[in-house]
Amino acid sequence: MKKSKRAKKSNSWKIKQHRDQFFKKSKTLGYRSRASFKLIELNNKFNFLKKNTNLLDLGASPGGWSQVARKMIISGKILSIDIKPMSPIRNVKFFNCDIFDDNSKKKITDFFNGKIDVAVSDMAADTTGNKSLDSIRTNLLCSEAINFSSKILKKNGVFVSKVFMGDDFIQVKTLAKSTFEKVNFFKPDSSRSESKETYLHCKILKSL
Ligand SMILES: C[S@@+](CC[C@H](N)C(=O)[O-])C[C@H]1O[C@@H](n2cnc3c(N)ncnc32)[C@H](O)[C@@H]1O
Repeated sequence: MKKSKRAKKSNSWKIKQHRDQFFKKSKTLGYRSRASFKLIELNNKFNFLKKNTNLLDLGASPGGWSQVARKMIISGKILSIDIKPMSPIRNVKFFNCDIFDDNSKKKITDFFNGKIDVAVSDMAADTTGNKSLDSIRTNLLCSEAINFSSKILKKNGVFVSKVFMGDDFIQVKTLAKSTFEKVNFFKPDSSRSESKETYLHCKILKSL
């Protein structure tokens, strides 16, 4: 009994340290969220942010990923969307809208006026306390992002998204594999190890 209490304490200390480490780092570097490091790690691994990339950032608020993207992309367009508001970032266009809404999709498509290079999604549903339900809701966002990306990405475009390793993970994986030629999974160090979150990296749209 005593031992398990100690183990729990030590585990929560490790989790806290992990959070603090990335929280402090994000403050020092002027990033709005710890999530910034996830995109940095994903890009270090897969190298998809280029100076002329046209990028869509889904679920962008408070803006950590958009800040990172803006640093790497010099001449490409960046459009960020979220159902929550986001404080402005220089040279990043923001739409306060919902990805499930057809009108949002039209606004996004009109903004780019052509196919894009990269779509990233860190979208997550608000947590309810029910882990299984939270996972299903976030994976629905990921599936919606895959379907929409298949319409706006160039043939050799890249799609990156948060996904939860929940009961419905296999459905998302199947959708990704039926949409893209190459599908990889990567869990950044900055993603908490106790979280079921991981990231999908997909490229090259399959021909219909
Ligand atoms: C983990 S946060 C994103 C953090 C962000 N990547 C950053 O670096 O600051 C997830 C975001 O997904 C957004 N979201 C959830 N459902 C959405 C939807 N249907 N359409 C657009 N955004 C959504 C939430 O409002 C939330 O801001």
